[in-house]
Amino acid sequence: MENLPSPKRIFIVLIVSGFILYLIYGVNTDTSLFLAIKPGSTHSANKGNRSTAVVRGGSSVKEPKQKDEWKLNFEEISDKQKNLKNSTDDVVLKTSKKERASQVENSKAKRRERTSQVRVDKEKYPKTVTSDPNIQLLLKENSDADDQLTDDKQSRKFLSNVKNKVVIEENKQQAKRFPSAIIIGVKKGGTRALLEILRIHPDIRASGPEIHFFDRDKNYNKGLEWYRDQMPLSRPDQITIEKTPSYFVTAGVPARVYQMSKSVKLVVIVRDPTRRAVSDYAQGLAKHPQNPPFEKMLLKYPNSKQINENWPKVRIGRYVEHYRRWLEYFPPEQFHFVSGEEIVHNPVPEVKALEKFLKIRGLIKEKNFYFNKSKGFPCFVGKLTSKGIKSEPHCLGSDKGRRHPPVRKSVLNLLQDYFRPFNEKFYDMVKRNFHWP
Ligand code: A3P
Repeated sequence: MENLPSPKRIFIVLIVSGFILYLIYGVNTDTSLFLAIKPGSTHSANKGNRSTAVVRGGSSVKEPKQKDEWKLNFEEISDKQKNLKNSTDDVVLKTSKKERASQVENSKAKRRERTSQVRVDKEKYPKTVTSDPNIQLLLKENSDADDQLTDDKQSRKFLSNVKNKVVIEENKQQAKRFPSAIIIGVKKGGTRALLEILRIHPDIRASGPEIHFFDRDKNYNKGLEWYRDQMPLSRPDQITIEKTPSYFVTAGVPARVYQMSKSVKLVVIVRDPTRRAVSDYAQGLAKHPQNPPFEKMLLKYPNSKQINENWPKVRIGRYVEHYRRWLEYFPPEQFHFVSGEEIVHNPVPEVKALEKFLKIRGLIKEKNFYFNKSKGFPCFVGKLTSKGIKSEPHCLGSDKGRRHPPVRKSVLNLLQDYFRPFNEKFYDMVKRNFHWP
């Protein structure tokens, strides 16, 4: 080369370089030739403005250089992927078709079995169960769950669950029922405390407010269905109770109660009628502070010894008179008298006797009471459930156990003397001495 003239040398160099360049770029300008691409793998080449090349199922897709070309190819890839998936699904579908057919057949057979089971349950509990929303939900669950069943074991488990649930729901069956016991009196005797104590018992369902159905024409004229509607929901194994203390002293109520039920149990909590009268007066005074003093209301004439027998606070305390009126309709066995004094000082024996009278389990115990010093009265611990005691201590409100206004001792003695003969007769009739002064 050194002997050649320089233009010739330059020419040869150019030819050789051109040939080398041709070898490199002229045959195939695609740089991907230099990439080892395996089927199914994804590579990222020349990160930056270059994108991904995807190869599936042995077919490769070259990475386009232009953006639009890239898009086009990407759609192509998606289509291929879709086709591939569909074909795979087809295979799965074909292979499991037989299996699925037998599963469907099994499921149908189980559904038939369950339907007949439910029919039996329906026959067993005709109206109540099937109209019960819980049962309806259950039956819906039953049909919803059909498709989920895959084998006999599951089916049997499901059936037994349904059966158990139906029985449980039957037990739980909630309905509003007429009371089978009523606390008919006596006002200020401790009726609220008694009701709250009974509420602790799992066998008792009690209406909260006083209903005043039998003693108020306005309510009585609404009819017995209205009365029942005032009751709480209860299960068949529970006793519904309401308390309206004015029933005991209102003429006409025994006849109306008798019309509703001849066998209803009648509970009366009685308290020393003198203290009861003061308590009753205190309640009125809390509402109407301008009321005249107790003494003025009690006596016919100021400083006399003549009692105003028509004053309701006095009239209510002649228990024997009211009881006699009730006995015209109900036998003595249907009554139970609770001591208003004992329910404060020693409630458990009183409650035990009441549980016996109501024929409910003897469940209320000492542990259900605690003495609240600041209130000066027993308070109650919780609601009993079949699982045990739910600890919800509570006392009665401030309108129960309120302070009494001062009344002269001589006036109280006078009232006690007045009530004594009525009390004696009452003790005789109810066969219990309440030892009121
Ligand atoms: P006083 O407020 O005069 O003390 P009723 O509920 O029939 O209206 O009776 C109210 C009376 O219940 C109260 O009258 C109170 O003496 C008596 N009582 C009995 N046990 C009670 C309790 N645990 N807490 C509050 N008051 C109770």
